This record gives sequence, C-alpha cells and structure tokens, in this order.
Amino acid sequence: MATTVNPPNASDADSVDEIVRAVASLAPEIRACLPGRRVERGETNPSGETQLAADAHADDLLLEEIGAIDDVVEYASEERESVLDVGDGTGLSVGVDPLDGSSNLKPNNTMGTIVAVYDAPLPASGRDLVAAAYVLYGPITTMAVARDGHVTEYVVDDGTLEAVREEVELPADPLVYGFGGRVPDWTDEFAEYAREVESDERMKLRYGGAMIGDINQVLTYGGVFAYPTLESAPEGKLRLQFEGNPIGYIIECAGGRSSDGERSLLAVEPTDLHQRVPLYVGNEGLIDRLESALA
Ligand code: AHG
Repeated sequence: MATTVNPPNASDADSVDEIVRAVASLAPEIRACLPGRRVERGETNPSGETQLAADAHADDLLLEEIGAIDDVVEYASEERESVLDVGDGTGLSVGVDPLDGSSNLKPNNTMGTIVAVYDAPLPASGRDLVAAAYVLYGPITTMAVARDGHVTEYVVDDGTLEAVREEVELPADPLVYGFGGRVPDWTDEFAEYAREVESDERMKLRYGGAMIGDINQVLTYGGVFAYPTLESAPEGKLRLQFEGNPIGYIIECAGGRSSDGERSLLAVEPTDLHQRVPLYVGNEGLIDRLESALA
C-alpha cells in the first residue's frame, strides 16, 4: 500500500537534507557517550519512565544541532514536557526519541535514535510527515531514512552518510515477529493472532527490547513488530509523535503497512504531544490479518 507522502517543497527538501546530515553527524558522539552514562538521573520523562543520563545527553545534543537549522521552528522529544520554539514563523517541526531502548544500555544491547520531520505544528498527524529516520546503534551504526516514498539505509559510523542500501523494501516472504508487553496482559484477540503467527514454521521470534533493533529486523527479513493494546494499557506503550508516526511512515515507505489496530498509524488523530498508541507494523498481509483479528 503506497504511502501518501507529502511532496516536500524545494526548501523543505534542503532542510530535510540538513536534518538528516545533522543526525548522522551526531551518531558517533551519541554512541561514544553511552558507556559513561548508564546511570539513572533520578528523574522521569513526561511518560513517567526513568531517565538515564544518556537519554538527556542525547536529547541535548540533538536539540542543539537540529534547533540551529534555519527552517526548523519546533523541537520536541520524549524527554521534554512540551514543544520548544526554536525558530520564527512557519517551518518544520522535529520530534525525536533521543535514545529508544535506553533500558538496553545496561545489558549492552542495541538502541536507536528516532527522528520525525513534520511540516505542521506539533502534535501533528503522520500525514504531515515529510521525512522520518532512525539511527541503529548496533555492531555497525546505521541510519534508515524515509523521504519521498523511498527508504535508504546508510552507514554513519564516522558521522557521514554512506548509502549502502537504496530503495529498501520489506521482503515479500516474512520471516520474523516481535511482540511487546507481557503475554498475560495481551487481549484474547491479539493472543490468538500471536499464536497464529507463531504457528507458521517459517516465522522466528526476534524481540530485543529496543524497537529500532526489532524494526530493522522486519525491514531486513520481513515480518511483523507489535507493541499491542494491553489489558492494563489500552493505548499500549509507544508514543505516536516520536515512535508510531515515524516508524509507521518508514515501514509504509518500504512497502509495508502500519496500524493502531484499526487504521494506518499515519491516520491517527493527534491529541497530545505524549499520547500513546498501539503499534503494529510489517508486511501488508500480516497487518491485514492483525486488523481482522482485532475487529
Ligand atoms: P525504553 O526506551 O524505555 O527502553 O523503551 C523502549 C520501548 C521500545 O523501544 C521497545 O520496543 C519497548 O519499549 C520495550 O518495552 P518492554 O520493556 O515492555 O518490552
């Protein structure tokens, strides 16, 4: 299902280039600062989650670089209560999850940085995205960038953008699945869907505790990732502005589908900067079946 992407105007395209380069240039520095910042800050973010020093430091670095770009007028992140005005007049609004999966820092597992570029004030609809990207701090530091309906993967180990995969698309034959939340907390409908996926002998469980690592598995091997509605949390765990919209945009640009259980994540009405949303993304057939199972 093709994503209806906003064709950015020429100045937006140049500004998106600047934002992508800025995030790539910070990747080595964010990664280098991780070892010394595994410690908790004794504070929580607006979603009530314990903040690590690494979360706050990454956020400060990203604000400084992205906020200095002329056409960027708003900056918001999972770590900050409200939207920051960083420019005058109309322009682009950037939403960031500075360190997705920071609870993986202690066990030295993958983490990521997620960036959403909207051409509307925040909180904005996913339909207002003109680009989305994530950095994956894995054995290699890579960056997936979705814009103009296409996804490109870059190596950004040294802070520069080296394209290694163009026109990235989900493989037609899915191989992996990853489902968040505690199994006893899943709804019966989702549990039934999960059992059906698990019963497919081609499918292998890949769940690492940092969405970006799991999403990159889906982008590489095809499959489905979900952080579903839970009995204890009907809106799930992940944030629409900083995770749902950008990841939905990237997967849809790669030929897959996204859903909140009923509709594309990009069609979810924005009501609050830190609103949560159930998140299901992956191959079209798997998401179609998911929506049927939850109907
Ligand atoms: P955090 O950044 O607080 O570690 O949360 C990460 C998010 C997302 O990246 C991941 O898929 C999910 O939370 C993991 O949640 P669980 O710990 O509940 O599995």
